[in-house]
Amino acid sequence: MSVLSGKKILLGVTAGIAAYKTAFLVRLFIKAGAQVKVIMTPAAKEFVTPLTLSTLSKNEVVSSFTKEEDHGNQWNNHVELGLWADYMIIAPATANTLSKMAGGHSDNFLMATYLSAKCPVFFAPAMDLDMYKHPSTKENFAKLISFGNVMIPATSGELASGLTGEGRMAEPEDIVAFIEDHLIKDLPLYNKKVLITAGPTYEAIDPVRFIGNHSSGKMGFELAAAAHDAGADVILISGPTHLEKPRERIKLVRVQSAREMFEAATKAFPEVDIAIASAAVSDYRPKISADQKIKKTGETMQLELVKNPDILAALGEAKKDQLLVGFALETENEEENAAGKLKRKNLDFIVLNSLNDKGAGFKSNTNKIKILFRNGAGKNFDLKTKKEVAADILNEIIILSNA
Ligand code: CTP
Repeated sequence: MSVLSGKKILLGVTAGIAAYKTAFLVRLFIKAGAQVKVIMTPAAKEFVTPLTLSTLSKNEVVSSFTKEEDHGNQWNNHVELGLWADYMIIAPATANTLSKMAGGHSDNFLMATYLSAKCPVFFAPAMDLDMYKHPSTKENFAKLISFGNVMIPATSGELASGLTGEGRMAEPEDIVAFIEDHLIKDLPLYNKKVLITAGPTYEAIDPVRFIGNHSSGKMGFELAAAAHDAGADVILISGPTHLEKPRERIKLVRVQSAREMFEAATKAFPEVDIAIASAAVSDYRPKISADQKIKKTGETMQLELVKNPDILAALGEAKKDQLLVGFALETENEEENAAGKLKRKNLDFIVLNSLNDKGAGFKSNTNKIKILFRNGAGKNFDLKTKKEVAADILNEIIILSNA
């Protein structure tokens, strides 16, 4: 999922030949999951029609202060539009528009909106090479950057004038990638590596039978999605589940048994900053896993079980600077047991879910948690969807990792 998903983008189109490329730009923003509204300067309409951009953005295009001029009879509210936007992007940004932005001129609707907008503003210059090189243009770039605007540099290539040089607006794909890269850097877990274990483990009795549990893996997969959306590099080690990888960039390692999960998790752990053990690991496995399907013979049958390695405890022992989070699923003496696990496994906090809470637990889509911290503090949360619970847990991790 793109960082632009769910974001509100205000695209300002000014009068340069590259305006025709904004049709593609709007499409890419929509494809990334953003909502788009377009403002055009009056002259930009000579280069691309408002109908094209309103059809693609699924929103009315505004280009003047009154709806009368834009086929209505009401005032267009630049302040409202400026506040609506999460991000404003001016592309193409002509030399004239850049100069007005730098000077604070407000002689058209786009400029008035730019001056009212409180959100981050990106601008993608487009002009002929000599205009791009001109000292006044350079001065305007520097001024705009000093105001906190972000410049998406023009590229070199053939220009509309027939000359070749710097001044071509960055291609729409590159504009979107530039903005995404820029925004990822502002995310709270940017540059952090997060390891998550999820799902059940299956302990083979023979080639067709196993000991397992009802864990769906949902909690761990939601945590992986939330960590990814917070900017982290995520490695998700999951036992058997029907769930698909929630985000393309997540590294998903599928395993079957506790021992396989142990191998994968302990190998990845030294490289990560944060680890969350949400897997429901089988505590025991059959001592012998038969090579062939076991035939029914006697009236009873005995399976000897041996203990599996405790993955989280091993991570707790190997822990250096990592932030380590575990889960506890309890049916009695909940807090006492959870607090014991927190200490024993050397965790920063433990997420307690009680099977006594209606709606909490393995297969449901909801969960009710309490977080117990190392210093003895506790925090209760309401019954929420697992997605919301994942956001709450990640929030606590972000607070601790920035502390
Ligand atoms: N865990 C693990 N490896 C195991 C057992 C548990 O990594 N072999 C992790 C779980 O992912 C969870 C935490 O340890 O984060 C606690 O799991 P839980 O089953 O509640 O606790 P156990 O330590 O197994 O204790 P018990 O079953 O006795 O309650």
